[in-house]
Order: sequence, then structure tokens, then C-alpha cells
Amino acid sequence: MKIGVIVFSKTNNTFSVADRLRAALAEKGLDIEIERIVPENDDPGAKPPIVFTNNPDVSPYDVVIFASPVWAFSLAVVMKEYLEQVGSLQGKKVYSFVTKQLASKFTGGIKANRQIKSAVVEKGGTVEKSFIVSWKNKKREEEIDSLIAEILKAV
Ligand SMILES: Cc1cc2nc3c(=O)[nH]c(=O)nc-3n(C[C@H](O)[C@H](O)[C@H](O)COP(=O)(O)O)c2cc1C
Repeated sequence: MKIGVIVFSKTNNTFSVADRLRAALAEKGLDIEIERIVPENDDPGAKPPIVFTNNPDVSPYDVVIFASPVWAFSLAVVMKEYLEQVGSLQGKKVYSFVTKQLASKFTGGIKANRQIKSAVVEKGGTVEKSFIVSWKNKKREEEIDSLIAEILKAV
């Protein structure tokens, strides 16, 4: 079973969580890789269509974990655009997590995960579970540990 963490991260919060997840799953002997989505222009104000300088292919993976920041109470436009053109997710187990700054509810995490969910359905897949990490939350470490534990249990 091959696991791919497909991550967009501008300031590395999301990437740092993805890397902890990778290390934890690799330690358990799982075959896991991180691939970064890299746009030519990562300015949050950049208008679609977005050109990718690294556009990860999901076809080698049995399990795919999408990870992105929240931008403006929604999924970062880079991830949104990536998911619109990603290959088939049929038959794959999919998970998602988003990171955001604010700990309070209704600051975009639920919406962003919902946007990932809809995009995954469009590609024939289903998101089994999704997670939110709030950077300013006092319980951030617990959120990260619990995300890692839940994915580890599920895959
Ligand atoms: C343009 C922009 C918009 C953002 N909008 C939100 C928001 O609506 N809600 C929130 O909680 N955080 C928001 N943030 C904060 C990021 O979601 C947060 O810092 C995230 O962890 C960054 O991830 P990264 O380091 O992987 O890029 C925004 C950041 C940027 C750059």
C-alpha cells in the first residue's frame, strides 16, 4: 500500500504537519511520500488559471491525503485549482486536513474541508475523514497528534 501526502503550503505550517505525519507513518513501516503542489505564483491574490511548476500525480497511491491552508475563509485557491484538474481518485482512500490561524469555529476550516470533499467526489473518490489544525489554538499539538493517530489507525 502506497500513501501519498499531497500538500500545498506557502509558509510551511501545513508542510510541517504533513512531515510529522510522514515521519510517524514511516516509523510504523508504511510506504509514505510527500509531494508538494507548487504554483508558479503563490500570491493569494493570483487569479486562476494557476500554472503549476510541480503538479503531483496521484495515480501511484492507494491512499491520498490532501493538505492545504485556509485562505479567506475558504480552501486556498491553489489547492482548489489543483483538485479541479487532478487525476481519478476512484478506488483510493482519501483523507484531508487543513491548517488555519484562528482557533474559533467558522473561520474557514469546515468550509475548506467541505470544498476538498466535493472536489474529491467529482474525481470519483470519497474523503473518509478530514481534520483541522488551528495554529493559534493552545491545543494545536493535541490536534496534530490526534490527526496522526487517527490516520494511522485508519490506513
Ligand atoms: C491570504 C491568506 C488568507 C488567510 N485566511 C485565513 C482565514 O480565513 N482563516 C484563518 O483561520 N486563517 C487564515 N489564514 C492563515 C493561514 O490559513 C494559516 O497561517 C495557515 O496555517 C498557513 O499555512 P501554510 O503555512 O501551510 O501556508 C490566511 C492566510 C493567508 C496568507
